[in-house]
Amino acid sequence: MDKKLPDLKNESKKAFTPARDPFFGFITGHALSLRKGRLDFMYKSFLDHGDFLIMFIGKKRTLLVNDPAGLKYVFFENAKNYPKNTPGYQRVAEVLGQGVFTDVGEEWRRGRRVIQPIFNPSKFDHYFGLINEESNQLVESLVGAVDEKEVNFSYWSTRYALHVIGRSLLNERLEESFNIISQKLSELIDLTEKKMTRIFPFKTPKVKKEDAEFTLALKILDEEIEKVIVREKEKPRTGAQGNFIHALLDSSEKFSDKKILSQVKTMIFAGHETSANVMMWGFYFLMKYPEWQDKIYAELKEHDFKIESEEEVKNYKNVNLFLNEVLRMRPPAWSFGRLAVSEDQIHGEKVFPGDLISISPYLIQHHPDYWEKPEEFNPYRFQEEPKPLTFIPYGAGQRVCMGERLANLEMATMFLKVLSKFKIEALEPNLHIEMNAQVSLRPQTAVKGRLIKR
Ligand code: HEM
Repeated sequence: MDKKLPDLKNESKKAFTPARDPFFGFITGHALSLRKGRLDFMYKSFLDHGDFLIMFIGKKRTLLVNDPAGLKYVFFENAKNYPKNTPGYQRVAEVLGQGVFTDVGEEWRRGRRVIQPIFNPSKFDHYFGLINEESNQLVESLVGAVDEKEVNFSYWSTRYALHVIGRSLLNERLEESFNIISQKLSELIDLTEKKMTRIFPFKTPKVKKEDAEFTLALKILDEEIEKVIVREKEKPRTGAQGNFIHALLDSSEKFSDKKILSQVKTMIFAGHETSANVMMWGFYFLMKYPEWQDKIYAELKEHDFKIESEEEVKNYKNVNLFLNEVLRMRPPAWSFGRLAVSEDQIHGEKVFPGDLISISPYLIQHHPDYWEKPEEFNPYRFQEEPKPLTFIPYGAGQRVCMGERLANLEMATMFLKVLSKFKIEALEPNLHIEMNAQVSLRPQTAVKGRLIKR
């Protein structure tokens, strides 16, 4: 474990319970306030009452742990007491099935062991090659959009992210499946959020309708992914660089068809929803702060626009500072949870079995003790390394994101290529897009702008 990490021992503090819902709080706890806007309520409570909070959904207790010492304890020191099988992750599993993202214990270890080789450092020259091709293709498509009144960057970000994940893990662009996968995943995310914030167990006609929509969307998504798996099964094994489906099919772990479907869905979802959102926000911040387009462009010019390897991408300082700041301000996995298995203490506060622990990259990345003017967009803050466990867009500990390196490479390469050819302009002055904090932190409306050729 990193010695620089802070220590929980002796750091006792009292967890604060914000005021419960008006009128019904004795029944609902904080559920109504959270339902109105989970991120807003959590952030306001955090700013008003500090980084260690208790909230209730009905009678169910959640501890919000958002300080480095508390996070170190949950992620590392006593991680075995805090597995991932929370109601929130169970909801995610209703969409993705049980895969490496949601499994716990030995089942998780089995999956992670088989999937890990896909992310071996030796694969990254190959991944850079295809990321390079995909970003060139994106630039070509955007050339065709220069004269258009508006360009939908949300659409292009999702498309590019799906192509990259398809080609790197499955050896196909998922071109034919693009519409179905992106639409059905979006619908399922919306419906999952509704399920997660239901307070009462009764099936109203509205709830029944939502459940029926969910079942149908899931069926269509599964059938589409099954088609991808069948296509891959039929392909020869030779020469396939990092084909994830072949790795699962050929593994001595003997995964069932259902498990393979879940693992493939998991990787497609985890591998594109997150990075697509960061790229959408990236376009948004580039339009809001066009000076960052110029800084990235100036550096490209200095390097003669050479983007020929992962090493070269990493050496472009400005794009990487910029992306870190986007990840700080808009972490796609803005909140996730753990479930306490046995009795314990965090900061001297008693933890009971069944308590939920809520961790929010968004909150810790806006913590006023660790980030100066946290609401200000300032990529230069990353010239200094952040304090340990204050910047956790990819999580931490044994369940840390598997795709961090791939995501950083795909995002940075794409922005370098696009900015070397175009300026991006907002459609209106004072552009502002709200956050839609659901399972992931999406922009509330599509990010649109104009392209101008350099
Ligand atoms: C900007 C992009 C991304 C962000 C911000 C992100 C964030 C995260 C976070 C926060 C977690 C941990 C959740 C927790 O501890 O409960 C996670 C897990 C995971 N991510 Fe990512 N992710 C990104 C891209 C990717 C990509 C591109 C892939 C695959 C190609 C991927 C695959 C996974 C997997 C498989 C896990 C589960 C790991 C485990 O539990 O063992 N992610 N991600």
